[in-house]
Amino acid sequence: MNTKNSNINSPLGQSDGSVGGGVGMAVLSASNINKYFYEPEKFQVLKNISFEANRGEFLALVGKSGCGKSTLLYILSTMDTDYEGSLVMNGERLTGRTQDQLAAFRNEHLGFVFQFHFLLPEFTVLQNVMLPALKLGKYSSKEIEERAYQKLKLVDMQDHAIKQSAKLSGGQQQRVAIARALINDPAIIMGDEPTGNLDKKNSEVVFEIFKQIAHENNQTIIAVTHDPDFAKGSDRIIEMSDGQIIN
Ligand SMILES: Nc1ncnc2c1ncn2[C@@H]1O[C@H](COP(=O)(O)OP(=O)(O)O)[C@@H](O)[C@H]1O
Ligand SMILES: [Mg+2]
Repeated sequence: MNTKNSNINSPLGQSDGSVGGGVGMAVLSASNINKYFYEPEKFQVLKNISFEANRGEFLALVGKSGCGKSTLLYILSTMDTDYEGSLVMNGERLTGRTQDQLAAFRNEHLGFVFQFHFLLPEFTVLQNVMLPALKLGKYSSKEIEERAYQKLKLVDMQDHAIKQSAKLSGGQQQRVAIARALINDPAIIMGDEPTGNLDKKNSEVVFEIFKQIAHENNQTIIAVTHDPDFAKGSDRIIEMSDGQIIN
């Protein structure tokens, strides 16, 4: 038997941490996630949630207010470790890891875009984008600055690099927040209502950037959204109801 081209020594799920790799490979796998809140009384907020996300896939997470989307995203983000079930991302099992290990994993492999951008207002656009890379310490500050300019170019904000971030419009700030989320070339970008605070035109701009990130850079997007157009344009909609995935 000819095994010259076999991949027997590089099993699926092995990861070198790069953004590359085949489209169609699961980059995130959530299995049987259950979560409870105990205040004001015990209730099960997430019920047996299982799903996978592939490399380069643009996923929209939808469902009525209160169904558990943010709670799920918070677990996927590794910020909340109080759940049952298991979470594997980029080939690494994250369930049971220490807070320090999770913080390191997040900074290198995950990017976040929230409804409110959380930019540091007194810092320049460029400084805001550079920050997670300076923290990671993988590149020199010269390289980080170059990379930050590349990411700003991707969101068409390169001409505003030396402006104070407080001086930008809401839509511009959100584009900078996306550039910041991309600075370490994360495998997965998560967003909770990333267009929730934007007008129609800016929402479309953000949507197009996400689509480009997924389809051209092969990065995975998981975005909670209330915007039906945003969801419809994604690759796959995951619909939740009452703590469960129903579609
Ligand atoms: N820290 C918390 N303690 C108790 N209940 C919570 C907490 N956070 C959220 N909830 C409740 O969990 C349910 C799901 O909330 P959430 O995940 O924020 O929903 P969604 O993002 O889909 O609107 C809601 O009933 C909400 O009131
Ligand atoms: Mg929410």
